Amino acid sequence: MPEETDLFHIIHTTRAMRRLKPDPVPDALIRRILDAGIAAANGSNRQTWRFLVIKDQKIKKQIQIFYKRAFEEVVGPRYFASEPPPGVTRERYMRQHAAVAYLTDHFHEAPVWIVACLDEGTAQPSRMSGASIYPAVQNMLLAARALGLGTTLTTRHLLHEEEAEAALGLPAGVHSYAILPIGYPMGRFGPVSRGPLEDIVYEDEWGKPYSGLQS
Ligand SMILES: Cc1cc2nc3c(=O)[nH]c(=O)nc-3n(C[C@H](O)[C@H](O)[C@H](O)COP(=O)(O)O)c2cc1C
Repeated sequence: MPEETDLFHIIHTTRAMRRLKPDPVPDALIRRILDAGIAAANGSNRQTWRFLVIKDQKIKKQIQIFYKRAFEEVVGPRYFASEPPPGVTRERYMRQHAAVAYLTDHFHEAPVWIVACLDEGTAQPSRMSGASIYPAVQNMLLAARALGLGTTLTTRHLLHEEEAEAALGLPAGVHSYAILPIGYPMGRFGPVSRGPLEDIVYEDEWGKPYSGLQS
């Protein structure tokens, strides 16, 4: 199988791509991403997912204001006070900070957004409901990567959920779970950095190393 279409290669190189070109993305590619999304697992196959494709600059800008406010109030200070996560060098973490700040300022300039939603009626959003939309979101991240498009799973607008969802025009009972800003990436795709499996996988008993990693 050629490397570019090998599933494991795609998985290991689907990084958060936060620097995007403003060039338009063909609808045919957005359709392929959405099609990959709805191939995902979802509870009882009820398919209560709904997707809002946003190209309108005015709408994106309204949400970016809340996205940036949440950065200034919560996310930015937290980033600067935190240590690099497992498997990530300080230098790479600093580059991530810079990219996060960049996306904060340019969120609305991504040519297309896909807002992943669930139509939940009177039920409250929960871990159970999230489990019926995030597989679709991950499929869309992988599909975008396979098509050479950059995106990032973002949820920060939820720190100002009511205002952001009003700006998105979501009807009662519909909640947003992620915004994927999509565009052609300025940089290159590359491998993700994660800590070793040995530190996080146990066998039979919490804390006992999984013997299967030794082979
Ligand atoms: C639940 C969730 C919410 C996220 N929200 C944001 C966000 O609002 N803005 C952002 O820039 N990245 C966001 N990310 C992306 C993460 O920062 C990213 O997955 C992580 O740093 C790993 O990056 P990498 O896959 O490029 O290694 C989010 C990821 C997840 C899973």
